[in-house]
Amino acid sequence: MEPLILGIESTCDETGAALVRGTELLADVVASSMDEHARFGGIVPEVASRAHLEAFVPTVEEALNRAGASLADVDGIAVASGPGLVGSLTVGVSAAKALALALGKPLYGVNHVIGHAAVDELVHGPMPERTMALVVSGGHTSLLLVNDIATDVVELGHTLDDAAGEAFDKVGRLLNLPYPGGPHVDRLAREGDPEAIPFPRALTSAKAMQKHAYDFSFSGLKTAVARWIEAREEAGQEIPVADVAASFAAAVAEVLVDKTIAACRAHDVDTLVIGGGFSANSQLRELATERCAQAGIDVRIPPIRYCTDNGAMIAALGSAVARRGVAPSLLDIGVDSSMPLSTITV
Ligand code: KG4
Ligand code: ZN
Repeated sequence: MEPLILGIESTCDETGAALVRGTELLADVVASSMDEHARFGGIVPEVASRAHLEAFVPTVEEALNRAGASLADVDGIAVASGPGLVGSLTVGVSAAKALALALGKPLYGVNHVIGHAAVDELVHGPMPERTMALVVSGGHTSLLLVNDIATDVVELGHTLDDAAGEAFDKVGRLLNLPYPGGPHVDRLAREGDPEAIPFPRALTSAKAMQKHAYDFSFSGLKTAVARWIEAREEAGQEIPVADVAASFAAAVAEVLVDKTIAACRAHDVDTLVIGGGFSANSQLRELATERCAQAGIDVRIPPIRYCTDNGAMIAALGSAVARRGVAPSLLDIGVDSSMPLSTITV
């Protein structure tokens, strides 16, 4: 029988615990401290760390209960050891080490961002030998060439400034929408004209493509939206919020999808996984589905509960790593807030 892996996630504001055997998800429990941050308009690291401390034991217990398993049944423990907030990571990694030591079971410190791609195996089955993964959230925007999810991942590009979700949240603030603004901007965008305002597509000029073919940049776009709104306000004109949202959303989706498809073509890959909380975005989903169909690329997007941060993604990656026979981590591993995306395990 394949090993039973307990996955632990605590990189940001979600405490996650999940149990996976092979590519079968047996239980997935998430506790979020999001509500505690909303009034600050962003995540407060200290509040997030304390929430992880409080949520850890109940979350793991609930996952075991739902899976009908006990700690003694667990064959290995996977924990996200980076990238993320140092305090949050420290809570999960310390607890995972304590469990591994007490149970005498192997520990696997794994990369959170690669977990966002690995979780797809629980939904759509094992990944083909070569897969492209676009991981987009409030914290990350990265394009990964996955040669083997357990042993060989190459980061082709990433955002040079804001993540896609972060840019949406900032534009949400400009439009006076509640935090986090992403889903609100998405909803407004569906009612607007995506061609109303020609916002810039960053890093797409021939010159930029030479050095940054698979990199992204969204902070200039956010500034362009701010300037456009300011100019209208100064002229005493009304702001067509739906058109602003739609034109902004189109600029983000187009760059993400165009560069991702170009990467698939250049690397002769015909399967694309999209993960991370921003994969909920309607404009991205629609455009990716349409353009990938034209390009003959099979798009896999897990249901949204597996795209936001959770324990299942860490258990999925831990399971792949354990099945592939990768050596477990040492019990003195630290956390790495800026873990490189070519690092799958530590
Ligand atoms: O992965 P996630 O839940 O949290 C992390 O950032 O790790 O991603 C949440 C981000 C937030 O920035 C949120 O505003 C954005 O994704 N988001 C969206 C949508 N749903 C979530 N942005 C645009 N459209 C959406 N439908
Ligand atoms: Zn994440």
